[in-house]
Amino acid sequence: MSQNSATFGYRDVDPAEKPGLVRGVFDRVAGRYDLMNDLMSAGVHRLWKDAVAARLNPQPGEVIIDVAGGTGDMARRFAKMARAAQLRRGGDDATIHVLDYNAEMIAAGIEKGGEPEMTWGVGDAQRLPLPDACADAYCISFGIRNVTDISAALREARRVLKPGGRFLCLEFSRPVSEGLRAAYDLWSFKAIPAIGEWVASDRDSYQYLVESIRRFPDQEAFAALMREAGFSRVTYTNFTGGVAALHQGWAI
Ligand SMILES: C[S@@+](CC[C@H](N)C(=O)[O-])C[C@H]1O[C@@H](n2cnc3c(N)ncnc32)[C@H](O)[C@@H]1O
Repeated sequence: MSQNSATFGYRDVDPAEKPGLVRGVFDRVAGRYDLMNDLMSAGVHRLWKDAVAARLNPQPGEVIIDVAGGTGDMARRFAKMARAAQLRRGGDDATIHVLDYNAEMIAAGIEKGGEPEMTWGVGDAQRLPLPDACADAYCISFGIRNVTDISAALREARRVLKPGGRFLCLEFSRPVSEGLRAAYDLWSFKAIPAIGEWVASDRDSYQYLVESIRRFPDQEAFAALMREAGFSRVTYTNFTGGVAALHQGWAI
């Protein structure tokens, strides 16, 4: 990929064009986003998200930012877990900040309802409207593959984390077995756009989502980008045979 082009699904586009194209996709799907996630993943995305929240293990007093946070699915989990820990052993309220560059997704999340620890804001992962070293943890779930310059977003994540802060990224990835890859391809390219058409009257947006998954770096390549951005102790865990992966790193 040359620096003069960015991916939009299987298309190579001008990097200046990509944010508007991606914003259009999420503008169109915002109202049906949560329902579509359940249908597309047969509910499995909930288990992956629960596993990420358990791995993060949010604590009272922590500042956690959920970037590309959409309708706040991850942030609600973090808020509830931090409060449960606070009830057990006291401490300050946690702050869970949901940032997304798409106001429609944020509006859908606010309408769905938040938790007292949650705040909402519109902002770009590549230029976070946050000071240096302000967060204990940064999470991005199914967001980073939509970002035009992934390395810029990773450097921003590194910048806003406190020393010792944790980075977690949940993203679709590369299934590890041939058999699973074949079944997954069939589901992705046949079923998902058809479900998009049926539920949201929008085949194209879901075709983009599927293609963007295929263009995203695999587990090792993404781990290498994290190291380049300055993260230490980078590891990943495959979920459902690598259909999704959780990458973790530390700002040390
Ligand atoms: C597939 S949704 C994921 C939402 C949520 N994190 C979840 O797991 O359900 C991807 C989100 O990324 C947001 N997004 C895309 N590019 C972004 C960017 N450069 N900065 C911030 N958010 C972005 C979109 O607006 C959309 O809400």
